[in-house]
Amino acid sequence: MNLDFTFYNPTKIHFGKNALNHLQQELSAYGKTVLLIYGKGSVKKSGLYDQITDILQKADKRVVELAGIKSNPTYAQLQEGAKLVREHHVDLILAVGGGSVIDCAKGISVSAYCKDDPWKRYWIDCEEVTNPIVPVASVLTMVGTGSEMNGGSVITNEAQMLKNGRVFGPDAYPKFSILNPVYTYTVPKYQMASGIFDTFSHLLEQYFSGQDDNTTDYVIEGILRSLIHSAEIAMQDPENYEARSNIMWCATIALNTITGVSKEQDWEVHMIEHQVGAYTDCAHGAGLAVISPAYYEYIYAYGIDKFVRFAQNVWGIPTDTMTKENAALTGIKKLKDFIEMLGLPSTLRALGVQEDMLPLIANSTIQGGGYKHMTAEDILQVLKACF
Ligand code: NZQ
Ligand code: ZN
Repeated sequence: MNLDFTFYNPTKIHFGKNALNHLQQELSAYGKTVLLIYGKGSVKKSGLYDQITDILQKADKRVVELAGIKSNPTYAQLQEGAKLVREHHVDLILAVGGGSVIDCAKGISVSAYCKDDPWKRYWIDCEEVTNPIVPVASVLTMVGTGSEMNGGSVITNEAQMLKNGRVFGPDAYPKFSILNPVYTYTVPKYQMASGIFDTFSHLLEQYFSGQDDNTTDYVIEGILRSLIHSAEIAMQDPENYEARSNIMWCATIALNTITGVSKEQDWEVHMIEHQVGAYTDCAHGAGLAVISPAYYEYIYAYGIDKFVRFAQNVWGIPTDTMTKENAALTGIKKLKDFIEMLGLPSTLRALGVQEDMLPLIANSTIQGGGYKHMTAEDILQVLKACF
C-alpha cells in the first residue's frame, strides 16, 4: 500500500429482499418535505412507486415530485430540481432509479443553494462545495454505476455538448441506499448487460495502473471473478437471485472507493465514453464495452506485466509458457469474448457515432490515462480502431 489514503464512506446500505422495510424508519431522521425523483416510468410499471409513496404517506411526509429523469441526465433537469428544492424547502431528496436518477439527485443537492453558476463551479472548475448540501437517499433499481454509495454525479450539458463527471465529497453521498436485487429483474437485458460492463470497467480502470504489490489489486481480481461468474448465470437466467444479488453488490463495492484505495487510477476509458455519450446519448456501459478492448490494445505494452497478471488471475489462463505479449493479448481477447457473451456492441458505429464526429469527440475528451498519458491524437487512434 504505497500511497497514503483516507477511507471514509458514510452511506448506510440496506440490502436484500426486505430492504424496503427500513425506509420508514430512515425517513424519520429528516424533515417534512421530500423531493421524490425518478425516471421515465419503470418505477410506476413495476409497482415500486406505489409502495414508496405509501411509505412516505405513513411517515407523514409532504411529497414534491420530479419525474422523467432521462438516462444520461441533463443539466436542464438538474436546474428544474434545484428550483423545486428552493421553492418547497425540501429536507430530503429521495432518488428511485438507476445511476442517472441518483446522479441527478446529487447534482440537485449541491446546486440548489449555489449562488453562482453550479455547472461552471462544480462540473468545469471542480471547486469545493461551500453552500448547504441537501441530503440525498436512494432506492436502487438498476445496477452498475455504484452511484448508490459514492459522490459521483455525471451530468450532460446539452447546450455545451459536454458530459462531465464530478466526484463530490462524503457530504454529498447518499445518506442511505436501499438495494433489493429483485427490483432489477425488470431491467431490460441490454441494460442489465450494460450495467454489468460498467461495473467491470470501473474495476479495470482502477486495476490497470501502478505495478506495486497492492492488496487492492487482489480485491479487484476477486470481484472481477465473481462478476464474470454471476454475469454468465444472469444472462441465461435473469431471475436467479444469487447471481443478481452478487452482481448488485459487486457494482456497489466496485465504486464506493474501497477498490481504489492506495492506487493510482486510469479512468481514460470513462473520459472517452462520456464524450461518446455526449454525442450519441448511448447507454454508458455499452459505450465502455466498445472502447475498452481498443483502448487496452493501444496501451497494454506500457504496463505489460499487469496485463499478464490479468490474464492469469482473472481469466485463469496458464501464462507460464507464453511470451508476455501473447499472454497479455490473450487476456484482452477474453475480455472481448466476455463483451460478446453480454451481447453488447463492438463498434462506435453501432452506438450511432458518425465518422466526422471522431475528431470532435477526441478533442473534447479530458486527457489523462494510467500506463500511458493519452493525447487527443492517441484518443483519436483508439476511436478509429473501434469505429
Ligand atoms: O427511466 P426509467 O423508465 O426508470 O428506465 C430506466 C432507463 O431507461 C431503466 N430502468 C432502471 N431501473 C429499471 C429500469 N427498467 C426496468 N426496470 C427497472 N428496475 O434503465 C435505463 C437506464 O437507467 P440509468 O439510470 O440511465 O442507467 P445507469 O444506472 O447505467 O446510469 C447511467 C448514468 O450514470 C452515469 C453514467 O455516465 C450515466 O449518465 N455514471 C455514474 C457514475 C457515478 N455516479 O459514480 C459512475 C459511472 O461510471 C457512470 O458514469
Ligand atoms: Zn461507469
